[in-house]
Amino acid sequence: MLYLIGLGIYDERDITLRALEVLRDVESVYAEFYTSASNVNLKNLEELVGKKIHVLSRCDLEEHPEGNVLKDSSKKETALLTPGDPMVATTHVDIILRARKLGIKTRVIHGSSIYSAVAETGLQIYKFGRTTSIPFPEKSYYPTSPYDVLRENLKTGLHTLFLLDIKPEESRFMSVNDAIRILLRIEEKKKEGIFTEETRCLSAARLGGNSIIRYGRVRDLMDYDFGRPPHVLIVPGKLHFMEEEMLKTFAHS
Ligand SMILES: C[S@@+](CC[C@H](N)C(=O)[O-])C[C@H]1O[C@@H](n2cnc3c(N)ncnc32)[C@H](O)[C@@H]1O
Repeated sequence: MLYLIGLGIYDERDITLRALEVLRDVESVYAEFYTSASNVNLKNLEELVGKKIHVLSRCDLEEHPEGNVLKDSSKKETALLTPGDPMVATTHVDIILRARKLGIKTRVIHGSSIYSAVAETGLQIYKFGRTTSIPFPEKSYYPTSPYDVLRENLKTGLHTLFLLDIKPEESRFMSVNDAIRILLRIEEKKKEGIFTEETRCLSAARLGGNSIIRYGRVRDLMDYDFGRPPHVLIVPGKLHFMEEEMLKTFAHS
């Protein structure tokens, strides 16, 4: 049996009682921390769970799960801990599919996620369009898809959530300032007026923990220090008056 367990939005204290009950009874516990910039303290988590936790790298989980978490769960009750909610990452859907092909039963224990936490900004969750991720640009890789997704969402008045790239193995976590600069650089190339220094946006850091949320023009937020990761960037679409009222409470100029 394989349990996929969400650790929740911020740190080890976001784990649910249901998850702790399951963890009390499993024989083997794995965790991955590469799908989000988690603030979980492994030692505290191990104390809470009362068991040793084996941390898996991206390569362990995506390329060789049959050698670790799937191997154990074919023989004994096993848990895989993930940041946020396990179902908000395609990697975990892949693990469930692989488990089922091997005849391993699976169960999901949900956790709080960035997908609901963004509603703390006052933007209504059902008015978000397609989410997009901003990757760290490489010399030969400067994707413009985040800009294109923003354009399409704006056409229908929908809000856009930008998830920011992380490379935990290199201790690199994209800041909202980096994200803004990347989008401005795409704007310079495309010149469609989709994301300029006058665009109003929302930046948020450490939601669920010591969070900070600011709303304002890109030019006013681009140098603001949001502190430690994780960060997200949101460009609102058409606003309802209640959303406008909430955004005013985060105004920064
Ligand atoms: C792939 S998503 C995380 C998905 C995770 N499974 C979940 O359900 O929350 C990772 C990105 O979400 C954003 N994020 C996650 N937690 C956050 C938080 N507490 N505050 C701000 N942004 C956060 C960051 O941009 C981070 O790089």
